[in-house]
Amino acid sequence: MDLLENIFLGLTVTIPATLLLLMITNFKRIKRNKKYRNNLLMLILASLIINGSIFGGIKMYNDKKIIDNREEKRTDNIDKDKNNEIKEFEDKPKANTTSKGFTIENKNGVTYIDGHLVVNKTYPLPEDYIPSDTHKPTTSSNCLECIINEGYDAYTKMKQDASGEGMTLWIASGYRSYSYQNGLYTGYVKRSGKEAADTYSARPGHSEHQSGYAFDLNSINDSFANTKEGKWINQNCYRYGFIIRYPKGKEDETGYKYEPWHLRYVGVDLATKLYNAGDWLTMEDYFGITSQYRE
Ligand code: DAL
Ligand code: ZN
Repeated sequence: MDLLENIFLGLTVTIPATLLLLMITNFKRIKRNKKYRNNLLMLILASLIINGSIFGGIKMYNDKKIIDNREEKRTDNIDKDKNNEIKEFEDKPKANTTSKGFTIENKNGVTYIDGHLVVNKTYPLPEDYIPSDTHKPTTSSNCLECIINEGYDAYTKMKQDASGEGMTLWIASGYRSYSYQNGLYTGYVKRSGKEAADTYSARPGHSEHQSGYAFDLNSINDSFANTKEGKWINQNCYRYGFIIRYPKGKEDETGYKYEPWHLRYVGVDLATKLYNAGDWLTMEDYFGITSQYRE
């Protein structure tokens, strides 16, 4: 309650009370003089109405001010909370993500997207990268069975099942070191020029063969796609966790021509997603990444 409110509350009560007291103490005169009595009554009424109204007005005004202040403070606090939330969000270190929201991690120069090792024209492997936990130890620079254990076990199972259906599978090219790939690529450039070589051979550091997760099956030739084995592989390799890494018609995504013989181990979960009823999705499309050399 502020001072003005107090004053008018006081006036509203004291003036009529004083006049009433006056009437009581002058009871005889009141009885005798009707005009005097009516004047006093009028004064009491007028004082009650005027001072009471002023008091009421001031009180309403003050109450509204208190409510407005409270509301303003509440809004301020909400704004402060919101600003704190935004600041906390902005301060949080953001994980690097692909255009499709998958996490990209770089561990010792090796790229992992959603936990899968990725090698393509955009994401290279370090020159000294050698896969560990391989079926055969990577002691040579060109080794058919130096495939990571999980992938090699899956290959063995797939080979057995294919054999049960009268087909023969073999690894024609497995692990290839950086320097081995360099020799291959240099030879292809000499033979067909850099532009053409880049459509079918990875530059050193950019081949999946260096990762130990990939191998070529049977004949490294387009005709493989039309063999019994090639057709079976296209329809069944995903069940074992393999993908056709460079599918037909996806050259713009992978950066390479169709390679029906080049399998990449990604595990059954991802392979099943990419299989897409035989019309393979590429890792590039699925993850939302590019495969392009910088130069
Ligand atoms: N032929 C594939 C792209 C490689 O060289 O790794
Ligand atoms: Zn290959």
